[in-house]
Amino acid sequence: MTHCAIAIDGPSGAGKSTLAKAAAKELGFLYVDTGAIYRTVGLAALRRDLSPSDETAVPAMLPELVITAGYGPDGLQHMYLQGEDVTEAIRQHAVSDAASRVSAIPAVRDYLLEMQRRFAAEHDVVMDGRDIGTVVLPDAQVKIFLTAAPEARARRRYDELLARGQEADFETILADVKARDHRDTHRAAAPLRQAPDAVLLDTTQLDLEGSLARLLSIIKEQLPHE
Ligand code: DC
Repeated sequence: MTHCAIAIDGPSGAGKSTLAKAAAKELGFLYVDTGAIYRTVGLAALRRDLSPSDETAVPAMLPELVITAGYGPDGLQHMYLQGEDVTEAIRQHAVSDAASRVSAIPAVRDYLLEMQRRFAAEHDVVMDGRDIGTVVLPDAQVKIFLTAAPEARARRRYDELLARGQEADFETILADVKARDHRDTHRAAAPLRQAPDAVLLDTTQLDLEGSLARLLSIIKEQLPHE
């Protein structure tokens, strides 16, 4: 592998995207959010009125989809579906659920595998997801499993929604976090699990600054030095 890859896996709400993005900026690597790709497939299913769990209809739709990722001058990853910028649309609550469901379909995972590997073949990447260290990039130079207690993750999500002026109910969010964890870890296809060679980073007791400092120090320890 001529390029360097840092794989960051973990459950939803552990701070993966914020931390991976910040680490990528610090290192000058490309940040790849693979959840956004699954979210785009979930959105496409919803827009076609398909059940996101339909193991026949969802894979049948895939060849018709034109899914691309682009990077703006801000370095942020934008997702496009049939040419439309869906970066905002894929963050809706209904799309989170749909993404979790489509991602359990093996044919969807197979279809997206090549796209993810292409990013890593062409760039130095910090890639976040659920199966990056285990399946997508098993040879990544650095693997990190980033997690936090479900209550801490739900609390962060709750605070984030309130800060945006949206209504939120903590118990509902916590139940959602647990349901998605269960689905992501118990599915047959590439379930969320820590790779044996991944370093565990638990951010339950850390704030953002502390988590980033810890993440960068793990990366520096693990990255091969010339
Ligand atoms: O990280 P996220 O919440 O944006 O991911 C959305 C869904 O996609 C999540 O429920 C799990 C799934 N996913 C996956 O199965 N594999 C990945 N590499 C990334 C995300």
